[in-house]
Amino acid sequence: MKVLVATEKPFAKVAVEGIRREVEAAGYELALLEKYASKAELLDAVAEADALIIRSDVVDAEVLDAAKQLKIVVRAGAGYDNIDLESATAHHVVAMNTPGQNSNAVAELALGLMVYAVRQFYNGTSGTELMGKTLGIHAFGNVGRNVARIAKGFGMKVIAYDAYCPDEAMTAAGVEPVHSAEELYEKANIVSLHIPATAETKQSINYDLLNRMPKGAILVNTARKEVIHEEDLIRLMTDRADFKYVTDIMPAADAKLRESFEGRYFSTPKKMGAQTAEANINAGIAAAKQIVDFFKTGNTRFQVNK
Ligand code: 3PG
Repeated sequence: MKVLVATEKPFAKVAVEGIRREVEAAGYELALLEKYASKAELLDAVAEADALIIRSDVVDAEVLDAAKQLKIVVRAGAGYDNIDLESATAHHVVAMNTPGQNSNAVAELALGLMVYAVRQFYNGTSGTELMGKTLGIHAFGNVGRNVARIAKGFGMKVIAYDAYCPDEAMTAAGVEPVHSAEELYEKANIVSLHIPATAETKQSINYDLLNRMPKGAILVNTARKEVIHEEDLIRLMTDRADFKYVTDIMPAADAKLRESFEGRYFSTPKKMGAQTAEANINAGIAAAKQIVDFFKTGNTRFQVNK
């Protein structure tokens, strides 16, 4: 049985060692394809794999066609918009994620982006503090909950909107639920996005929503670039000189945003929210364990293409 780890953005070495231990202890073989430069390399490598561990690596119909032996693909992380689920199902491939395993890392980075933004991108001029400001968490999943926990430590007031999360789960975490996205954006000085990229959410963060935010607003995106309506964002930042956008997922319009909104826009060069040794170990080893458990006992608890 061959388990392939295919990561264009590699895990920390210590995480790969942990994955190897799990795979070899089960009597399976580990193959590694890291920092691959072309899809052809991936298509080649998947040909003999029975199981596949990926991060944001794209697993589409072409990859699934090439992976003739594949039975399971595990996205070591939360969002699985990079896997063509319908095609996986058609190829009789089980697709899973590892929810919660990298969420603290992403949450810490979200708070880091907030501090960076309110302190004027560390340019030496006077900024503001997070204490006493209202943080609006858009979607209260694993990352949103961790962001809330840390933000409360900063002394922020935390409110959240999540159509799929009961109010009680928020109030139990000391977070005030609001009942529409509009209300969230109207009340929050800073909004932190934690929604997945789905047909429903793509381009949903638009001019109307963002323009509801109070003066001096900051939008923080550690979720997905696709949820932003980028033309609307550019229009809004043109109309509102008080608005800042900080993101861990480089927008398609990065060059335009950099040129037009110096001092109000920042993007990491490569998504790095989950890029910590701890998150790599947690998500990578969880993925390996889920694969072993699937082959040994048929466990499909984390399957996302049911
Ligand atoms: C996730 O969905 O788990 C995060 O976006 C992290 O993605 P990455 O593994 O590509 O860093």
